[in-house]
Amino acid sequence: MLDVLVRGARVIDPASGLDETADVWVVAGRVQRIAPRLDLPAERIEETRVVDGAGLWLVPGFFDMHVHLREPGEEYKETIATGTASAVSGGYAAVACMPNTNPVNDCAPVTEFILKRAEQAGSCTVFPVGAISKGLRGKELSEFGELRAAGAVAVTDDGRPVTDGRLMRRALEYARRFDLVVISHAEDLSLSEGGLMNEGAMSTRLGLRGIPWVAESAMVARDLMLAELTGSRIHIAHVSTEASVRLIREAKSRGVPVTAETAPHYFTLSDDVLSGFDTVYKVNPPLRSREDRKAVKEALADGTIDCIATDHAPHSLLEKDIEFEYAASGMIGLESAFPLVCGLVHEGVLTPGGAIAALTWNPARILDVPVGRLQEGAPATFTLVDPNAEYVIDADSFQSKSRNCPFHGRRVKGRVLLTAVEGKAAFVYRKP
Ligand code: DOR
Repeated sequence: MLDVLVRGARVIDPASGLDETADVWVVAGRVQRIAPRLDLPAERIEETRVVDGAGLWLVPGFFDMHVHLREPGEEYKETIATGTASAVSGGYAAVACMPNTNPVNDCAPVTEFILKRAEQAGSCTVFPVGAISKGLRGKELSEFGELRAAGAVAVTDDGRPVTDGRLMRRALEYARRFDLVVISHAEDLSLSEGGLMNEGAMSTRLGLRGIPWVAESAMVARDLMLAELTGSRIHIAHVSTEASVRLIREAKSRGVPVTAETAPHYFTLSDDVLSGFDTVYKVNPPLRSREDRKAVKEALADGTIDCIATDHAPHSLLEKDIEFEYAASGMIGLESAFPLVCGLVHEGVLTPGGAIAALTWNPARILDVPVGRLQEGAPATFTLVDPNAEYVIDADSFQSKSRNCPFHGRRVKGRVLLTAVEGKAAFVYRKP
């Protein structure tokens, strides 16, 4: 258990509105005090490690509400152990994992299995997300009450849309009874089918079938209207287009119960990176145009998009080191997210408080889970970062089993130094 005094870091806790230089004192794994200047009692001096926090930020442990841990079923890509090790080295103290495993997390035994594995081998807290439909087949609803009772915190068919509007309506109505948020993977398959990348000048140049922005945004429109109709909460996953942003902004302004996330690749990259046919950039929804990227950043800045999730989607070389057409969609993200989010602060898009809120309290509130804040008396769960440390991302040093990181070799600014989870140092950065 940690006994540590971090002196003089910028302590940012969006949940309480705290953002000031302070000392944080942790005794036996609990946050004893957060105050501008703390003097240790004489009897504590020996066992307490003092860390100079000057120039660093001490923030709540990050919470990623959208990751794929691949277990059960695809352990060669990732396991709950490697995925959560990857999470803590990226500064995350908690993750919510998507149900597109094998078997699908559409019933209590799978949810229970995930929680058991997380407890046995996990480095951080894991919140399972259940499937909307049995087997993700889009035909029949799963038993939401059973999933909730077993520990699921939300439902989604992520990886696939719920094509049947009536089923989505029923899902929204049913989810409300169990206080579950419905997470929408918004995609109109009739518009996206066969598409490999964003539809635009680049897809024409490369001769690859495109996925138009409307494939996402038309479904966002439907789901916003279903949320309005039912009064149930909807969360739009991985927002990538300007039109989706516009629709969500408008719905929010009218009080529709909607929240939204985007991922670092949508505000960092655009479809021009595909010019070399590198499958590391293949993802669904696809990397969009520069205008879309700009709109996503604006939406983060004005709060239209509430939070940043990674959509960490590990794949092995078997699925990635092949022709573009056959390659799997998805990129890993847990170990590269913080410097990219920090980049938005350096660019002036987000304030430090806004960036940290998007990684902590905002997703915690969306899923109503008890993480993402600093509290005196609570087990110490925090992340210490150096927002100004410059380095080159090296995916070979990652804890994830997979290497499909599009940011390998990129120069960034912002490093995670320590992740404390429930009083223990789950990750400590060591110079290579
Ligand atoms: O690119 C993606 N990969 N998008 C998804 O929605 C699912 C994910 C996966 O599971 O690989």
